[in-house]
Amino acid sequence: LVLILDFGSQYTHLITRLIRKLSVFSLCISGTSSLKSISDLNPRVIILSGGPHSVHSDGAPSFPQGFIEYVESNGIFVLGICYGLQLIVQKLGGEVRVGEKQEYGRMEIAVERKCDLFGEKVVGDRQSVWMSHGDEVAKLPDGFVVVARSQQSSVAAIENHSRRFYGLQYHPEVTHSPEGMETLQNFLFNVCKVTADWKMQDVLEEEVKVIKGMVGPEDHVICALSGGVDSAVAATLVHKAIGDRLHCVFVDNGLLRYKERERVMETFERDLHLPVTCIDATEQFLNKLKGVIDPEAKRKIIGREFICIFDDFARDLEHKLGKKPVFLVQGTLYPDVIESCPPPGSGRTHSHTIKSHHNVGGLPKDMKLKLMEPLKLLFKDEVRELGRILNVPGAFLKRHPFPGPGLAVRVLGDVTEGNALDILRQVDEIFIQSIKEAGLYDLIWQAFAVFLPIRSVGVQGDQRTHSHVVALRAVTSQDGMTADWYYFKHEFLDDVARKICNSVRGVNRVVQDITSKPPSTIEWE
Ligand code: XMP
Repeated sequence: LVLILDFGSQYTHLITRLIRKLSVFSLCISGTSSLKSISDLNPRVIILSGGPHSVHSDGAPSFPQGFIEYVESNGIFVLGICYGLQLIVQKLGGEVRVGEKQEYGRMEIAVERKCDLFGEKVVGDRQSVWMSHGDEVAKLPDGFVVVARSQQSSVAAIENHSRRFYGLQYHPEVTHSPEGMETLQNFLFNVCKVTADWKMQDVLEEEVKVIKGMVGPEDHVICALSGGVDSAVAATLVHKAIGDRLHCVFVDNGLLRYKERERVMETFERDLHLPVTCIDATEQFLNKLKGVIDPEAKRKIIGREFICIFDDFARDLEHKLGKKPVFLVQGTLYPDVIESCPPPGSGRTHSHTIKSHHNVGGLPKDMKLKLMEPLKLLFKDEVRELGRILNVPGAFLKRHPFPGPGLAVRVLGDVTEGNALDILRQVDEIFIQSIKEAGLYDLIWQAFAVFLPIRSVGVQGDQRTHSHVVALRAVTSQDGMTADWYYFKHEFLDDVARKICNSVRGVNRVVQDITSKPPSTIEWE
């Protein structure tokens, strides 16, 4: 195991993911975790991440007391990156000071001596790296040597071979350090002698074993499928372990996209052989949403209604089986459970305060189901890989995210007014199909149409019209937390707008959303 201690760098998750891509299992926990939480994981290598702090600032985070003794007595290799390097220097008796020249951005470094960190590289070899630090090393702790310097001659890499401590002042994990991955690889495989034996096939087999051990031979498990990748992969995995003692439910709340219910059910039943009950609750949801225009009120109503339906489903099942289901499967992913060390004032927390996110599968408080979260150590791309091994169709795995409250947050204002939902479905379908035909679908994080609660004047077939306006939104993103609007070619947009106005009755104007997140959010409500 390679354990990453997070000191608040925005790249910590990236390091964890990159190491896993090298087939080495890695986990990330807060840099201020207790010594027991660290030693319980029994790591072979510990990476101390970067972070926005200065080792001199008040409340600067640090590893726990006894850490140095623990790693040395257990022969653990330690690599500090940026802030991590400075922590090593400071804690082992060296000196870190405010840098005379700060180093931000692309820099060149040169190898100073034959060393562990740069393996085959020879003295004088240069490489371009990404630096981002204000403090610098003024004095090394005893026994350490400088193995690379920046063009400004500040310390870029250090090591102490016999004590197994290493440090990189730059960020090897980012693409702006083109040889960074090679350095990390050399460190893990040649210096630490880690073996590349973490494979998704093993994860699958291990998870199936764990699930079988968790669920008693007579126990039943329930799962709400949203139509998204995570719940589908989680359910398929659990189904592999316990077969038809898994009971899935898919709720059509009337807020789904064009033909979504049919398409999703077909995948579940025909391709995944999952036992799914489809509940048509369109009327129930739309009745509750009638006249509601406040986005938060809509979200809360939908969340509540979903829980009622889910509750009924569990009760019906109990009736049928003569016993209560024991577990509830959720598709929680690693980024949702990762315990990180957010920099002060960053606003990075685990709770969304901007919008009340509703996740399908919300747990009714009095149901007393135990949670089963078989994907909780995996990142999204790993879940997709697991899905591929489980034969989940590729097209399904690559679907853009779709919010729990569905089209209710894409029809601004009253969802039930006129035929807004129907118009939106048609517009959205044209937009998405055009994106697919242009080969752009996989380049975009999320694309969709929004129905605006206004009318504008147009002229169609020599007639004056007073019809609806729709907006097109497409963004690129890594994790949905920030996003950039996507640049379509003008010809593409022209073509889509023409198709929409020509084939969707009631629309005479198409606009494009050209804001990023922040200041906007991805969804409009
Ligand atoms: P926002 O609009 O907050 O969305 O920028 C970020 C990402 O989250 C999705 N989203 C949701 N997902 N339940 C979900 O499961 C929700 O209530 C919800 N609201 C927004 C959104 O589509 C985007 O991918």
